[in-house]
Amino acid sequence: MPNVWSPDSWRAKHNSQQVKYPDEKALGQAVADLSKLPPLVTSWEVETLKHQLAEACQGRAFLLQGGDCCESFADCRSDSIVAKLRILLKMSLILVYGCKRPVIRVGRFAGQFAKPRSSPTETVDGVTLPSYRGSIVNRLPFTLADRTPDPELLLRGYERAGLTLNLIRSLVEGGFADLHHPELWDVDFVNHSEHSQMFRRLMDSVSQAVSFMEAVAGRSLAELDGVKFFVSHEGLHLDWEQAQTRQVPRRPGWYNLTTHFPWIGDRTRGLDDAHIEYFRGIANPIGLKVGPSCTPDQLLGLTEVLNPENEPGRLTLIHRFGTEKIDRYLPPLIEAIQRRGRVVLWCCDPMHGNTIQTANNVKTRRFDDILHELDRAFEIHASMDSYLGGAHFELTGEDVTECIGGARGLSEADLGRAYLSDVDPRLNYEQSMEMALLIARRMNPSFRDDMLLPK
Ligand code: PEP
Ligand code: CO
Repeated sequence: MPNVWSPDSWRAKHNSQQVKYPDEKALGQAVADLSKLPPLVTSWEVETLKHQLAEACQGRAFLLQGGDCCESFADCRSDSIVAKLRILLKMSLILVYGCKRPVIRVGRFAGQFAKPRSSPTETVDGVTLPSYRGSIVNRLPFTLADRTPDPELLLRGYERAGLTLNLIRSLVEGGFADLHHPELWDVDFVNHSEHSQMFRRLMDSVSQAVSFMEAVAGRSLAELDGVKFFVSHEGLHLDWEQAQTRQVPRRPGWYNLTTHFPWIGDRTRGLDDAHIEYFRGIANPIGLKVGPSCTPDQLLGLTEVLNPENEPGRLTLIHRFGTEKIDRYLPPLIEAIQRRGRVVLWCCDPMHGNTIQTANNVKTRRFDDILHELDRAFEIHASMDSYLGGAHFELTGEDVTECIGGARGLSEADLGRAYLSDVDPRLNYEQSMEMALLIARRMNPSFRDDMLLPK
């Protein structure tokens, strides 16, 4: 690996996900335009997040990362942004209560626009066209015009990321004052769960704790906690990432200022490839997705290149094996990291190893598989004296029907009702709340059903 890094040194490297634009000149113009626009985030926000993630590395905080698989431009609406923010804030309060430590909230949005594809083309009824690669690259309808990569979309995506962040910042500053209203915590799905009594007590406790803290302090929770909200996306489209990679006054290094926390996908983590070259040079905290094909030696090589100083908070390993593989693949990676004394934050993505296809060719995931992988992740880390310090979900605050199961027992037949994701299936509002409650219960044994008195 050459030692000279620059924001575009990745261009000399292999990139299996490089988008081929028919009009290179138009691409160059779009990248030049992007690089003149103001940044979406600031270097001090990025450093604040790194500091919080460093705390999580030491077991003193927990990372909650969640949002869409792929944001669509049509979802850049206030109701959908508010719903995403609200579900993450509510989940985070449940987790604070459950794990008794601060929760770092990171949205998988305001820039989650590009998708890696296993094949660059798709064939339907004998017609072959470029695959859909996310809303900053091309459009979903299966026509040549829609599927041809369009550099203008980079700019349209950047604007939407900015609009999304603008609303998030205002909402967070405004305090989301309604978070402590009891009726917000009184959700009907709970009645359908075998744990309904435990859920009710837990939600009552959280809501009372929030009200109590606010009453004592005379300030809203947002003011008290200085609610911080960070954003993240897969740093896949390197033209876009490069355009916003900047130096800032009075701080060394280069920052990717499109997002606080970019991550490297499981398909683009080849040690000598373009994405690793790009990511090794930026100062942001970064994530690395790790699936079953990653060997302990590969992982050690990657951690050395991506975090040579072993800086706490710099590197989060987001493992995603699937419920059937985690027992086999996670322990050797934990062992290698411990043996080499690498400081990392471990985070479990229980979504991407658990995607299945129904008989009708619909992509879905089973709630129980997601929960089981997460459960195993907690158990394996604890048994090896390691700390699972985060969870990564594909979720939405809306009432979609994309994943099977949960308290309401969504079945395959329900998938057609409200399947809105353009790519991977997401947990809906209720399934996300239930997931948070079950994690809180796992992290805090005092929430075991049998230890709660009847109301
Ligand atoms: C994703 O997070 O949407 C994704 C594609 O994940 P992975 O790189 O883990 O497959
Ligand atoms: Co996905």
